[in-house]
Amino acid sequence: MSTRDPISELRERNELAEVSGGKERIERQHASGKMTARERIDAFVDDGTFEELGRFVTHRSSDFGMADQKIPGDGVVTGYGRVDGRLVYVFAQDFTVFGGSLSGAYSEKIVKVMDLAMRQGAPIVGLNDSGGARIQEGVVSLAGYADIFLKNTLASGVVPQISAVMGPCAGGAVYSPAITDFTFMVRDTSYMFVTGPDVIKTVTHEEVTMEELGGASTHNEVSGNAHFLAEDDRECLSRIRELLSFLPSNNLDPPPFVQCSDPWDRADDALDAIIPSESDQPYDMKQLIAGIVDEGVLLEVHEHFAQNLVVGFARLDGRPVGIVANQPMVLAGVLDINASVKGARFVRFCDAFNIPLVTFEDVPGFLPGTDQEWGGIIRHGAKLLFAYAEATVPKVTVVTRKAYGGAYCVMASKHIRTDLNYAYPSAEIAVMGPEGAVNILYKSEIAEADDPEAFRREKIAHYREKFANPYIAAERGYLDEIIEPRQTRGKLVTALRSLENKRDKNPPKKHGNIPL
Ligand code: HXC
Repeated sequence: MSTRDPISELRERNELAEVSGGKERIERQHASGKMTARERIDAFVDDGTFEELGRFVTHRSSDFGMADQKIPGDGVVTGYGRVDGRLVYVFAQDFTVFGGSLSGAYSEKIVKVMDLAMRQGAPIVGLNDSGGARIQEGVVSLAGYADIFLKNTLASGVVPQISAVMGPCAGGAVYSPAITDFTFMVRDTSYMFVTGPDVIKTVTHEEVTMEELGGASTHNEVSGNAHFLAEDDRECLSRIRELLSFLPSNNLDPPPFVQCSDPWDRADDALDAIIPSESDQPYDMKQLIAGIVDEGVLLEVHEHFAQNLVVGFARLDGRPVGIVANQPMVLAGVLDINASVKGARFVRFCDAFNIPLVTFEDVPGFLPGTDQEWGGIIRHGAKLLFAYAEATVPKVTVVTRKAYGGAYCVMASKHIRTDLNYAYPSAEIAVMGPEGAVNILYKSEIAEADDPEAFRREKIAHYREKFANPYIAAERGYLDEIIEPRQTRGKLVTALRSLENKRDKNPPKKHGNIPL
């Protein structure tokens, strides 16, 4: 008869699993400024709510002496917990075990929690910190990645998917964060690239550091592959919690309501003074937004990328909204390739997850230039147009100043199914700005005039007087109401309340064909 105590054995096994890659590797992890996988999960979920699944899973490979190198959990911690009391599934790659590299068994653990997340209708959060495909497992590891990519794709639009890159994320591994809805990166300790500096040097002879190539700043500011930049692990995890507070758990649930002490109809006189009387003077659109939304809080998405467009989450009378706004402070708020793609992805996220869209418009048009034309501004600009047009969530637009040309149509105009369209008295809605219009309409008259400049100025003043206002659009019914800036909050809350039970849908189809 065995004298072994099963409970003691379980406890011993649990202790062994807890130390994962061992004390020395944990110390190395800390010394490089990173938390361990378990510490990250503990910091992320509500205290004491994490339930680990698959703690004793090990790999099944025997090549390269792996048969006697088995560590419980196999390099990824998976399970579920609560964030502000709401169910969330999570996996955290454990760099202290085989460099967090992905094996067949490891990918099965991730796929298992993704399946559970989809079945329960709860968000899935992945904390990435991995050397990529486990070299010893070869193609089995590649198959594991592909299994995860498939799940990411199937879960897209069903439950929110959030990735945090908190260490290396290289090669094909980057495609999981890329498919998910939002990617966070941590300054100085995280990087992502498809091919690293050494391969690049061999192939293109370019010399680039890991940080320049794929660090947190690069992906937040230059490539746009990351949406959020955190200073350290702890900040990253707390900002994921903040993001989740705006999101419904799945595509069938309403976004979470939060009790609001900010009066719903608060009139803010300061808003009347934000937009300059000179229409070519910049102002900070974020200041306007802050004066309108609950407690002035906007969680910006892609804060450092394509800053000529501001997108993010806020609340109006306690209900989450997605804000899309041109930013006159940057490139006069024009739409370019990056801003269009940034806006399109955000609009599609909000539409997929029942988050109403509020658009603040001040756009002089699309950015001219060969860079933009040859880079495909036609195709990329069409993404934003397509995203707004197909969106069936409540849509409300406020034209604060300029709404010119094609950009007028694109930025949630009445014509692409926006429910309620408002404008400030300072709005200018026309095919193009006064200068451009006069140069075209009076080309020969300007050339023949005794004083061409005086003639031009007179015509510009006349055009501005006649067309650069909101009233022609209002007469046509393209605008529902001209409002004073101070009234904006009350108007938006009332508008969104009226749209609470909005029913709209697109024609039956397998899926549309957004111009990618
Ligand atoms: C197996 C790996 C590993 C890997 C790291 N380790 N990467 N084990 N497979 N891919 C192990 C190391 O052997 C080491 O084990 C431990 O993890 C820590 O690694 P170090 O090199 O000591 O750490 P560090 O100096 O911080 O460097 C980290 C690193 C480097 C930059 C990630 O390890 C590295 O370059 N690894 C290889 C990365 C790579 O080429 N992966 C394949 C990419 S292609 P010990 O026992 O010493 O602690 C890919 C394809 C995906 O992933 C395809 C999807 C479709």
